[in-house]
Amino acid sequence: MRLCFATNNQHKFEEVKPFLSPKFNLLKLTDVGCHEELPETTGTIAGNSKQKADYVFNKFKIDCFADDSGLEVFVLNNSPGVDSAHYAGAQRNHQDNINLLLNNMEGIDDRKARFVTIITLILSGKYFQFEGVLEGSILSEQKGAGGFGYDPVFLPQGYLNTLAEMTLEEKNRISHRAKAVQQLVDFLTAA
Ligand code: IMP
Repeated sequence: MRLCFATNNQHKFEEVKPFLSPKFNLLKLTDVGCHEELPETTGTIAGNSKQKADYVFNKFKIDCFADDSGLEVFVLNNSPGVDSAHYAGAQRNHQDNINLLLNNMEGIDDRKARFVTIITLILSGKYFQFEGVLEGSILSEQKGAGGFGYDPVFLPQGYLNTLAEMTLEEKNRISHRAKAVQQLVDFLTAA
């Protein structure tokens, strides 16, 4: 069965593909003729996830799914949230984003935060959403050199290492994205 993963992120595509083969023939955006950036203008993580899947379904008439993620910091009214990638500006620079986050949290004791991933699947015209969450807290300084984004300042609940100090395998066992993908895979394998 043909299924398009509506992402321009090659790394995410390669990560998910083995879980869906051979039952699903997972297609890239370019495989279905989509060469443009997908719209992400709804202002919420769930909305953007649906908007990207909708775009591909409506324009290319194919079953598909899209993901969207973000970091929600409790004391900052759940920001940066949907703006996580460009929190410090259009340059979308991870270090600038971390610096701004640490500045905005200076002197704040309540450092609870969570990563959220929402996947929207459109299958035979029906919509399904899957959510993965990773609870944790924001450190006051960076630790570790691995990962990407906010990983060096994110300490998962119950762990002594930041996401940037973990191997990819360790991170993939607990991450918000892995949890959402697992739900998608479970659903599709049973479908
Ligand atoms: P995306 O929707 O998966 O592209 O994620 C949007 C933004 O959220 C990224 O550019 C990062 O700033 C942040 N983010 C999402 N997932 C992670 C993660 O696993 N570690 C660190 N930052 C993340």
